[in-house]
Amino acid sequence: EKNNFEHFMLKEIYEQPSAIRDTYRGRLHAEEGIIRMAGVDDNLERFLNAKRILIVACGTSWHAGLVAEYIFEDLARIPVEVEYASEFRYRNPIINSDDVVIAISQSGETADTMAAIKLAKEKGAFVFGVCNVVGSSISRETNAGAYTHAGPEIGVASTKAFTTQITVLTLMALKLAKAKGSISNTDFHMHLQELETIPQKIEVALQENDHIKEVAFKYKDARNCLYLGRGFNFPVALEGALKLKEISYIHAEGYPAAEMKHGPIALIDEEMPVVVIATRKGHYEKVVSNIQEIKSRQGKIIGIVTEGDTSVRDLADYVIEVPDTIESLTPLLTTIPLQLLSYHIAVLLGKNVDQPRNLAKSVTVE
Ligand code: M6R
Repeated sequence: EKNNFEHFMLKEIYEQPSAIRDTYRGRLHAEEGIIRMAGVDDNLERFLNAKRILIVACGTSWHAGLVAEYIFEDLARIPVEVEYASEFRYRNPIINSDDVVIAISQSGETADTMAAIKLAKEKGAFVFGVCNVVGSSISRETNAGAYTHAGPEIGVASTKAFTTQITVLTLMALKLAKAKGSISNTDFHMHLQELETIPQKIEVALQENDHIKEVAFKYKDARNCLYLGRGFNFPVALEGALKLKEISYIHAEGYPAAEMKHGPIALIDEEMPVVVIATRKGHYEKVVSNIQEIKSRQGKIIGIVTEGDTSVRDLADYVIEVPDTIESLTPLLTTIPLQLLSYHIAVLLGKNVDQPRNLAKSVTVE
């Protein structure tokens, strides 16, 4: 049940430290420098011989796939393509028998993702599932897989499923990177140790809750909102915008920060809040200059920054801090304030947070 939380969504946001711990427990052995994942170990050759990885998913799970693209390519040096399952299934895609297809689905019941899996299998590809629901249709249809251990997710807006999907995909990328030799031993160990600290760092990020509520109060009446991020945090910007749309019904768009000047900058005026992910690791100076572009057009800036940041603080209307971590793991932290921001805006607007209009938890029709 909801324990002392007002909504399932808030409870599930706060469950992320334990959900992530449950997801890496028994898999991540930082001391020994080992990652054990039976579904990957048993099929290691298929992964190592893959010319490319295709990721298929919908919605938030598709965003987790986009984060995974950055992580797999950066660490394991395997080319990755991420596709909406609904497009993939109908566009006569090129699928080779040496492709590895990763299907990501919290519910394991999404019709479009299921159809994409069947198509990939028909073409001889090996399909690996990342699901949260044990025994779900997708977990049964895939050749192998790894479960996220997020526990039941009741809120229609996905939160802990997203961060645990990223956790599983990061473990996979690290494991393959180690097996391929594309990561140094020092880097590998550093990643493992850092991943173990993430639950604790999420606890710290959650302490910004009251401050985020104030930011929500300030911007709850906005008609539109932009979310910007670069690199690993570009998909987080997309996810932040989706969360706001789903539960508060405020129109929001996510963009890679540098794409602003190619169009969306025309939208900026004193009415437009822009949430910018500007953590210190990862294109920081570039993002700061993107913030300056918004500021000079009177846009309102909400910066998601690393603890102790001063440059963005000087420019922004509000900053929300997250702890420092290595760049590839920042999505696990920057996602937290964006979830809380949309949650509080929706609550302040009196919306039905756990069951937003027109949406279902599992989309079992196409
Ligand atoms: O169960 P799945 O992960 O396959 O669901 C995919 C999407 O329907 C889902 O992520 C949807 O976008 C959520 N409402 C996002 O909060």
